Amino acid sequence: MYRIDPNKLPRHVAIIMDGNGRWARQRLRNRVFGHEEGANSVREVVRCCRKLEIPYLTLYAFSKENWQRPLTEVSALWHLLNRFLESELPEMVDKEIRLRHIGDPDGIPEEVFKKLQTAVAHTAGFDKLNLSLAINYGGRQEIVRAARLFAIDVQEGRHQPGDLTSELFSNYLFTAQYPDPDLIIRTGGEYRVSNFLLWQLAYAELYTTEILWPDFRENQFMEALTDYQGRERRFGKTGDQVKRELAN
Ligand code: FPP
Repeated sequence: MYRIDPNKLPRHVAIIMDGNGRWARQRLRNRVFGHEEGANSVREVVRCCRKLEIPYLTLYAFSKENWQRPLTEVSALWHLLNRFLESELPEMVDKEIRLRHIGDPDGIPEEVFKKLQTAVAHTAGFDKLNLSLAINYGGRQEIVRAARLFAIDVQEGRHQPGDLTSELFSNYLFTAQYPDPDLIIRTGGEYRVSNFLLWQLAYAELYTTEILWPDFRENQFMEALTDYQGRERRFGKTGDQVKRELAN
């Protein structure tokens, strides 16, 4: 059994769900089968966060780079997201989960985008868990977009260039008003950030595991949380300073 300290849970967990293709290949199936099983892991991890009262969860569902995959796989991913958004909406409403989208709306197939907007609108009043799906998302693109939006505000006289601080800049990102992630999990044994939440990850604890995403379920999530709870988060300070602050 995992011993999780409810007082030391991350407020925001972000996940790079990798390894669906390899999971399918190991079973001599096509990659789409892996993505489908990956959707079951999504459901389980969402339920876990809701149960543990972790208030923010962000999942990397479709990156800007994913467009480069074979067309059949890209279409299957959109089809899967489309189905998922429809099938999970009743549970999101029932469990008072708020769904949000981060990423570029341009390029998302119309049908998927409509389902996304419907789910976002139907859950806008909830706050038990803030579930963000990064769809057609890229961290660099998000930063460039934020810079453009700030430049427009300067041009139109709402701000001076000198007003810009990290806090103000954060308000121009898709994640404005969200706390930064405390923990980022990457499955599938790679050690890359892959253009995910580049600005927001400044102080996040990184947890990587060899487990492939379709095998990442409640136990594996608990293991990641246990590992996180063993970390000392220093935010640039010394270990002694942090211990003194915790004692006070
Ligand atoms: C990476 O595995 C995963 C993706 C590109 C897509 C993530 C999508 C899902 C988990 C499916 C459903 C999501 C939701 C929100 C319902 P990979 O294909 O790169 O695996 P590989 O590295 O083994 O090839």
